Parts: sequence; structure tokens; C-alpha cells
Amino acid sequence: MRNKILITGGAGFIGSHVVRLFVNKYPEYEIVNLDKLTYAGNLENISDIDKAPNYSFVKGDISDEQFIDDLFAKNDFKGVIHLAAESHVDRSITDPMAFIKANVFGTVNLLNAAKKYWKDDFEGRRFYHISTDEVYGALGETGFFYEDTSYDPKSPYSASKASSDHFVRAYMNTYKLPIVISNCSNNYGPNQFPEKLLPLAINNIKNNKPIPIYGKGENIRDWLYVVDHARAIDLIYHKAEIGKTYNIGGHNEWTNIDLIRLLCKVMDKKLGRAEGESAKLISYVTDRAGHDLRYAIDASLIEKKLGWVPSLQFEEGLEKTIDWYLDNQKWMDRIVSGAYEDYYKNMYKDN
Ligand code: NAD
Ligand code: TYD
Repeated sequence: MRNKILITGGAGFIGSHVVRLFVNKYPEYEIVNLDKLTYAGNLENISDIDKAPNYSFVKGDISDEQFIDDLFAKNDFKGVIHLAAESHVDRSITDPMAFIKANVFGTVNLLNAAKKYWKDDFEGRRFYHISTDEVYGALGETGFFYEDTSYDPKSPYSASKASSDHFVRAYMNTYKLPIVISNCSNNYGPNQFPEKLLPLAINNIKNNKPIPIYGKGENIRDWLYVVDHARAIDLIYHKAEIGKTYNIGGHNEWTNIDLIRLLCKVMDKKLGRAEGESAKLISYVTDRAGHDLRYAIDASLIEKKLGWVPSLQFEEGLEKTIDWYLDNQKWMDRIVSGAYEDYYKNMYKDN
């Protein structure tokens, strides 16, 4: 059987880095990228590999039953790496149903197709579901999320991801579907849609616009460079035992305000501004409803079992990220017009 792998959400932020890594590293595989191209999907993210002989793109919706059934009928996928999802917490607060459709219904639809078409031959196959640390809920000032931490999702986004994780595990328990799951902390890096904190702040600093900080900026996130997440996904896909879950994180916790202060400092240098200039743009705005205080991952299992560690120190990763956004102004300009402007005005209208 030719090693054909379906990657969903490959035109998005993390998915594009995973597709690139697999296409370049495994010329003997056939990588099929399935993406609906929602507002967050952008084929520009993978334009460097779209002519590769081992790559193809299919536009479609994971929650479309007939379409997914046809795709599995036509293709004998050896594996699925499932990243397609609605991914932004703030949008989930405005429109939870969109998250149920994409994240819950879409995932179950893929599971059903894998179950139907792989049924008599699970050998050598795997269904790898990419999830988030947000399913574990929120931490206080101490402690970490472990693989066996109880689920306690608190936003519509994390509730939809938690639900999809439960379905993935239930399909292994009930139908013996060969599954693997990983739960990762906040990613940063090139190609992230500028509704998320870091690209939004980089773009606003560049354009001398206020940097919106929710509440007092005391919420804590554990940041990981996106390429290190893609490396972990590669290792888990190839090496993890069936049925296992791995937590992935950067050992890199920052309060939002300290992170933005550091960003401002680096941006001052990059833009040739006087020190302290960009930080004047910091603007405290209304807090996110139900804002999770802290996420922090204990990633010792993947380190011990699979030998994965983050390759970049945060300061280095942050600098690479800033350079990428400054060097790819056209990518940003194409995004921050039209529908994005409407989203932005509506999202930050009360401040
Ligand atoms: P993203 O929003 O940048 O990209 C999501 C991609 O999925 C887009 O290309 C979009 O077009 C596609 N998509 C959405 N709905 C679809 C549908 N119904 N059918 C087909 N394609 C659809 O998201 P991301 O940040 O790259 O996240 C990817 C995955 O990783 C998600 O499952 C997310 O929950 C998970 N994750 C993200 C982070 C993070 O920090 N960004 C951390 C941990 C886990
Ligand atoms: P985000 O990038 O949306 O990721 P997540 O909510 O999945 O962690 O937000 C990261 C943190 O930054 C989170 O605590 C919310 C905060 N935040 C702001 O303070 N201002 C903003 O404009 C955005 C988008 C996020």
C-alpha cells in the first residue's frame, strides 16, 4: 500500500507547517491536504510546496458527510492527521455552534469514514487527532497539566475540542480504531492568523495602533514555536503507541503583559524606534468572558518516551517570528482588509 496520508486543516497556521514538514521530509509519502479554506485557511501559507509531486490539495468541509465518505472511498489513506478546526476562543464565544459543527461533527464524520473504510484492515494505520491543552481547563498559580489530568473545558472552543477528543477515544474503545491524540500549548510563529495575540500585536505595533490587552494582562500561557509542534507531530505520528496521548509544551510561561512588553522591546529595535516607544501602544481592554487564568503543560512524557524537546529558546523564536511578519507584509496586508476589518471593529468595539 502506498503511504497516503490525509492532513486536514493544512492551509491553516499549524497545519501548513505540518504539511511542509511531511512533504519535504517524506518524498515517498503522498500527502493529501484537505481544507475548507475558511477565513483562517490560506493557500499562500504553503505556496512553496504546492507543486511538489507528493502533494495534492482538496477543498472541502470535514463536516460534509457525503464528501468525506467519497474522499475515503476514492483514497486508501494509511493515516489521518487531523488539524482542521475552528480555533479562536473569542469567535467561539460569539458563535459556539460553528465550533460544534466543525470540531465535533467534523471530527466524528472523519472517524466514521475511517471506521467504515479501514474496518477490516487497521494494521499499520492511524488516526491522529491534534488537540489543545485548553481541554484541561484553567490552572491557578501553580501546577501543570498532565496526560491524565481530568478534562474541565471552560470556553465553547475548549468544550468542542474536549468533546472531539472524547469521541476519538470512544472510537478506539468501541471499534478498535487505531488512534493517537496530542494536546499542545499555545503556538506562535509564521503564518498565524492575526486574530491571535502575537500576530495581532506585531501588526498593530508596526502600524502604531493600540495593542489590546484583556483585563490586567495577568493571564498566563505556555508558548511553543510552531515548527517544534510540527516536529512533535511527526514523532508522535510515526512512533507513538496506539491509544496514547501526549502533552506538548514549551516550558515557557509568560503573563500576557510581560510577553507584550518583551515584544515591544524587540520591535523597538527592529523598527528603529526609541526604547519604550512601542510599549506606549499597550491598551487595557474589557476582559474576555470566562478568561482562563493559566495554562501550563508538563511535557516530560514526550521528552522521555520519544526524545522530543523544543529546539528554540523563546527569545530566538520570537525574533524569527517578528522577522517573518515584517518580511511578509504583503501576506499580512492581504488578510487585514475586508472581512478582517469588520471582525476587528466588532471585536474591539467597546474599547
Ligand atoms: P487555524 O484556525 O489557523 O487553521 C484551521 C484550519 O482548518 C484552516 O485552514 C481552516 O480553513 C480549516 N478548517 C476549519 N474548519 C474546517 C472544516 N469544517 N473543514 C475543513 N477545514 C476546515 O488553526 P491552528 O491554530 O492552525 O490550529 C490547528 C489545530 O491545532 C486545531 O485543531 C487546534 O485546535 C489545534 N491547536 C492549536 C493551538 C494553537 O496555539 N494555535 C494549540 C494547540 C492545538
Ligand atoms: P489567543 O492568542 O487568542 O490564544 P488562547 O486564547 O487560545 O490562549 O490569546 C492568548 C492570550 O492573550 C489569552 O490570554 C487572551 C489574550 N489576548 C489579549 O489580551 N488581547 C487580544 O487582543 C487577544 C487576541 C488575546
